[in-house]
Amino acid sequence: MRTVRQRYFSGIQPTGELHIGNYLGAIKSWIELQDEYEGIFGIVDYHAITEPYNPEDMPKMVMDAALDYLAAGLDPNKSILMIQSLVPEHTEMAWLLNTVTPVSWAQRVPTYKEKARQLDVSVNMGLLSYPVLMAADIVLYKSSIVPVGEDQLPHLELAREIVRAFNGRFGDTFLEPHAYLGRGARIMSLTEPTKKMSKSLGPQNYIALADKPDEIRRKISRAVTDIGPGGGPMSPGVRNLFELMSIFSSEETYSHFKRLYDERKIRYSDMKQKLADDLISALGPLRERRLALSLRPEYVRDLLIKGSRKAGEIAKQTLIEAKEKMGLAYF
Ligand code: AMP
Ligand code: TRP
Repeated sequence: MRTVRQRYFSGIQPTGELHIGNYLGAIKSWIELQDEYEGIFGIVDYHAITEPYNPEDMPKMVMDAALDYLAAGLDPNKSILMIQSLVPEHTEMAWLLNTVTPVSWAQRVPTYKEKARQLDVSVNMGLLSYPVLMAADIVLYKSSIVPVGEDQLPHLELAREIVRAFNGRFGDTFLEPHAYLGRGARIMSLTEPTKKMSKSLGPQNYIALADKPDEIRRKISRAVTDIGPGGGPMSPGVRNLFELMSIFSSEETYSHFKRLYDERKIRYSDMKQKLADDLISALGPLRERRLALSLRPEYVRDLLIKGSRKAGEIAKQTLIEAKEKMGLAYF
């Protein structure tokens, strides 16, 4: 007998090319969990608009994100692909949750504090209640796990607090969600390896899932290391390359270079060449699938519309339940 798969929601903002940090922190786990759980994968455009963006770019960015999800191996027969703004229950639920969330909780979130400091325009309400919308995404599907990278842990912590606040006031309704961290939950920048790999640091600091082989080779060859020859504690850049090698290369390759490092005989140029080869063979099939899918925009569009509709049906049930608990069911 087929058991019912538990559901969960996870999402990525459509803010440009997805990189191997996004892949390892989130998408790879989504794919590994596809048989065990019913995943609802959102392209969270309402989150993306909390920071400055160009409206003309948004449709392409949403489509690009969908292509990346599918090319990475998300199976539309097992998982639901959706666009957040097509399911209004998300913003409606966020409003309900806003009313049980003290402003001070939102102000304390490290990513909010950091962004508030960086942005030169004044902070908008959307940025402050960003994690409340994220909590809404999560609770609408009664998610108990949420696969994300390490940087999202404070958001998950806040989501749990919001769930406790809601359940405490209105009775048990939502599950407390827990972060699911896969291997590679914090991949560092290639150029500034004390910071996490991120779109905002520019294309040289990340390997995009859609990068061509020569781009991958060039970026890896320029990755910051140290002057060598190894031994002792690793510098951040070297540690990051070993982390990538432990994921993308064979065990033999990893131990070979680790031994050279320990024996102070490592040549980083050799290590980088091998790592680039392995990255290219791991990402090659993905790039090809992406190229093939990009020729079928109607198919992808259709999946997104159907997926959003399906997600909306599930979300609606939870929203009704929450409104009833809050005394907002009248007729
Ligand atoms: P974002 O691009 O901020 O929407 O992030 C999408 C997902 O990728 C989230 O689950 C992040 O935690 C994850 N992520 C982003 N950057 C990294 C990174 N450098 N290492 C691991 N996971 C990451
Ligand atoms: N805040 C997440 C990020 O930047 C994206 C996100 C929005 C998300 N809603 C979510 C992730 C719900 C997991 C679950 O990466």
